[in-house]
Amino acid sequence: MTASRSRPDTDHYAEIEELGASPLWRYYGAIFDSEPRSRAVPYLWGYQRLRPHMLHFADALSLEEAERRVLMLVNPGMTEPPATVNNLYAGIQIILPGETAQAHRHTANAFRFIIEGEGAYTTVDGERVHMHPGDLLLTPGWHWHDHYHEGDGPMMWLDGLDYPLTNAMEAGFFELYGQRLQKPATPDDLSSRQFIHGRLNPTWVPRNPVNSPIGNYPWTETERALTSISDDATGSLYDGIMLEYTNPHTGGPVMPTMSCRISRLPARFDGRAHQHTSSTIYHVVAGEGRTEVGGTVLQWGPKDVFAIPAWAPHRHVNASTGDATLMSYTDEPAQRALGFYRERPVD
Ligand SMILES: [Fe+2]
Ligand SMILES: [Fe+2]
Repeated sequence: MTASRSRPDTDHYAEIEELGASPLWRYYGAIFDSEPRSRAVPYLWGYQRLRPHMLHFADALSLEEAERRVLMLVNPGMTEPPATVNNLYAGIQIILPGETAQAHRHTANAFRFIIEGEGAYTTVDGERVHMHPGDLLLTPGWHWHDHYHEGDGPMMWLDGLDYPLTNAMEAGFFELYGQRLQKPATPDDLSSRQFIHGRLNPTWVPRNPVNSPIGNYPWTETERALTSISDDATGSLYDGIMLEYTNPHTGGPVMPTMSCRISRLPARFDGRAHQHTSSTIYHVVAGEGRTEVGGTVLQWGPKDVFAIPAWAPHRHVNASTGDATLMSYTDEPAQRALGFYRERPVD
């Protein structure tokens, strides 16, 4: 017969807690949800309402005071630590003529999508990359980057990063460069000129399967790609005419954790609803419409940013008579790499 090890008057729950153990049977539902429940909520950041505040801070704060003068777009459901959706972050940065930002690098992957202004460049691992509205600039993980604005008037861009994911993985490193700015080590915009044609790639550049070697995907090329197929392509019932920016060496996403996309919703587009485990952040390049996310309607116009949480059913509608163009990014590549990605239509 087995001897009972239970002692009368013993609070076993309290004792196991002191021993650093917890009863799984009390947490089972919280750990194994039947489906994902994002802490993020559907949310829209109106660009025209934020813009005057950006201009105010550009006047009121020197770049030395703010270093990188950025308004973080913080999801009301994800304030601590601040994030825009579960794994991703968006911010809007403003710089003035003559300003520079200290060169640094971090393991988090980042990109910039230029919203307005001309005349600034960023230097990424020694390559000066010039920015124009609609350009997508990459600063993949652990690449040195700084910027300088030599044009007139303010410049604003969307910053996209995967730091919430990097930090959740406890893999975040950060380092300042020894000097404020990097010296150019290659001709300006060389990577864009070498690779942007996509189907004819230089044979002498080492293959990089982790991130795209292209510093800038210029708007002129993006617009040309969209325009050349917009009238003929069927597109997706959910996303319209959606193109993915790709790594020319792999055909895959530009960075390992984030896929960047550009899409056109034709006039009168009435999208079908779906849901996916990836979260998405959208930036409206042009046009207007609405996105229904669960019971929330996000009514968007030019330059707005909006967030769709993981597994939230959503559909896009462009009820206007003109096209709408949307830039977006998602953590789908990270989820696919880990075998977590799921997607399904919603009736
Ligand atoms: Fe950075
Ligand atoms: Fe979607």
